[in-house]
Amino acid sequence: MEAILLVGGQGTRLRPLTISTPKPLLPTAGVAFLAHQLARAHAAGVDRIVFATSYRAEMFEAAFGVHAHGVDLAYVSEDEPLGTGGAIRNASRALTGGPDDPVLILNGDILSGHDVRAQVKLHEESGAAVTLHLTEVDDPSRFGCVPTDSAGRVTAFLEKTPHPVTNQINAGCYVFRRSAIDAIPEDEVVSVERATFPSLIASGAIVMGHVESGYWLDVGTPEAFVQGSRDLVLGALSSPAMPGEPGERLTLPGAAVAPGAVVRGGTTVGRNAVIESGATVIGSVLLDDASVAEGATVRDSVLSRGARVGPGAVLDGVVLGDGAVVGPGNELRAGLRVWPGVELPPTAIRFSADA
Ligand code: GTP
Repeated sequence: MEAILLVGGQGTRLRPLTISTPKPLLPTAGVAFLAHQLARAHAAGVDRIVFATSYRAEMFEAAFGVHAHGVDLAYVSEDEPLGTGGAIRNASRALTGGPDDPVLILNGDILSGHDVRAQVKLHEESGAAVTLHLTEVDDPSRFGCVPTDSAGRVTAFLEKTPHPVTNQINAGCYVFRRSAIDAIPEDEVVSVERATFPSLIASGAIVMGHVESGYWLDVGTPEAFVQGSRDLVLGALSSPAMPGEPGERLTLPGAAVAPGAVVRGGTTVGRNAVIESGATVIGSVLLDDASVAEGATVRDSVLSRGARVGPGAVLDGVVLGDGAVVGPGNELRAGLRVWPGVELPPTAIRFSADA
């Protein structure tokens, strides 16, 4: 089966991590995020993937070439971002299948353990134009929701509302019949969520919902990105692309963790990263060459390439850009983001418990 992977977004919610690297290429549990998706797609029977690129397009081919994780790869770029629907239409130029063949569409920022083969089977058996993976969430008011009838047919595509009629939401993985892709207008900005799906439903086309609520995570925010990496390292979601066995930590070649350091909770320690004695690092992502000095505490945070945390500093839920430096004794919490190259002098920022 062929697939299109949507990877052209700017990843604004993940800045500054996405200034130098597009979201789908951010190292996650030791490899580019997409490596997990490619490996899982291969396991689900996908043998060829077309990347729909836009933002920093050239970096994708440089990262994966023409074959990776068992899948043949092609690349189609947009001069201007065309939105999700426009990108699918544009990338379909590189598909080789016929008008009735199923095409899997994957958002490039979703980690999902759902059964893609079951989704494709439902699509084939129901003769649908499109079959969407729907997942159930505790608080659907944060998302648009997607109700289905007793036969599993999607009845509406509803915008975000304080009183959603169902807890089913669009999980960002679709099976399109090729002819339904060809019906999307060419060279126009189109959103599948706001235009393609509502107009297919309005026209009476069969749009099916494959409801499955296993592991699912949109890694679009820093908190979710850290969680995704942590879950892969701990084995909450298995990935054939993980460069090691699941466990409390993943230590990449060249990393140095001092014997007196505590490193756990699904932390990744990147190549040549250093964690000194007496430091505590929990549930975090250290990219290559990052360092945590003696007595510092880092929790649920991302340290980009070459970022440095000074002695005794405390980071909780923080993002450090490439080469950022946190001087000794600082205490950073609550979603603080330090831009690449910024150096915080000693004890410049300190949160107290009642601040
Ligand atoms: P934010 O800017 O943080 O919202 O992230 P994003 O740019 O990735 O947007 P969003 O999460 O809504 O995108 C969902 C998926 O579609 C991601 O995999 C994006 O890479 C992809 N995507 C979004 N817009 C476009 C586009 O215009 N062209 C292409 N090729 N892909 C897109």
